[in-house]
Amino acid sequence: MYSKNKIHLLKAKHIIEQWGVVVFPTETVYGLWANALDPQAVKKVFKIKNRPADNPLIVHLGKKSNIKKYAYIKNELQKLIIKYLMPGPLTIVLLKKENIPDIVTAGSQFVAIRIPSNKIAKDFLTIINLPIVAPSANRSTESSPTSAQMVTKSLGKQVPMIIDWWLCEFGIESTVVMVPNNKEIIILRPGVITKEDIQSLVGSSVKVGFSQTPSQHSPGNKYKHYAPKAKVNIFKNIDELIAFSKKHNKIWLIATSEFITSHKKKLNDIRHIKIYERWSKKNLITCAKNLFQLYHKCDEDKIAVVAIEALPERGIWYAIMNRVKKSVEK
Ligand code: TXA
Ligand code: MG
Repeated sequence: MYSKNKIHLLKAKHIIEQWGVVVFPTETVYGLWANALDPQAVKKVFKIKNRPADNPLIVHLGKKSNIKKYAYIKNELQKLIIKYLMPGPLTIVLLKKENIPDIVTAGSQFVAIRIPSNKIAKDFLTIINLPIVAPSANRSTESSPTSAQMVTKSLGKQVPMIIDWWLCEFGIESTVVMVPNNKEIIILRPGVITKEDIQSLVGSSVKVGFSQTPSQHSPGNKYKHYAPKAKVNIFKNIDELIAFSKKHNKIWLIATSEFITSHKKKLNDIRHIKIYERWSKKNLITCAKNLFQLYHKCDEDKIAVVAIEALPERGIWYAIMNRVKKSVEK
């Protein structure tokens, strides 16, 4: 069922209180929501997604004052991150309290906590006043849904209710951070809250870096993810694109307008390359917002081979390339 009507929030509350699952939007991607305190409901989430049991779930809360009910805030840097970057597209991994079932954290002593800023998600979390697990509402290995229509195609037959709140504002999943002490922040999953954003908040005395062994800290990273059916190839320059084009009969190009304009003539000469999507370097939020939509469109259009331009991995582009690179791993 689709709904932009708040009456349906009460129905959703009823379903979740009865150990069920509901799909809700957030500002990042749509999530498959269930009561985090109920192991049976959480089990359903793993089953519907066909998610490996060793990949923990993020616990979503409606307000900051609830964090202490489920996790320990141990240091000043964690407090700072919570104060300035939450609610929003950021998840913090904290030492868990006893009341969070082991199935949620896949046996880890840490729990990932997120407070969404999307209005309907926040309203619902306030109404239900429960901690909610919410992995992206897709089957494992598929790309995350950023619209209710994408969810319907993937999980439509398995969930009783989908709350429709248009396209997600950011379009890629939250930045996941761990803050082991007052000197260090480890980014386990990049997102639209960038390393540069976090560094400027905490100052140069704190080391902010990406996890070197992501699968150790965040098991989700070791699994294939975000994949369209097409073969995805990343190229760094026109020569790499030409070399790649020789191996295929037809290639769909996803590149920046800047690249397309500066190589117009060479691209015209390769007849079997077709421009599929133009990105603008000036509007990276839009690229992030559209990436998974674009992947779904590739599937709909039954596209076999796409070539995506690589850009310098800084800021939001680091997160976009992280998702694109994962879609190359087949
Ligand atoms: O933006 C998001 O975070 C979305 C929306 C729906 O809120 N949710 C989402 O959940 O992306 P999911 O399950 O698709 O991805 C959760 C990521 C995985 O990489 C997982 O390994 C990591 O967070 N994670 C969850 N709990 C963790 C924990 N206790 N320790 C370390 N990593 C954890
Ligand atoms: Mg996911």
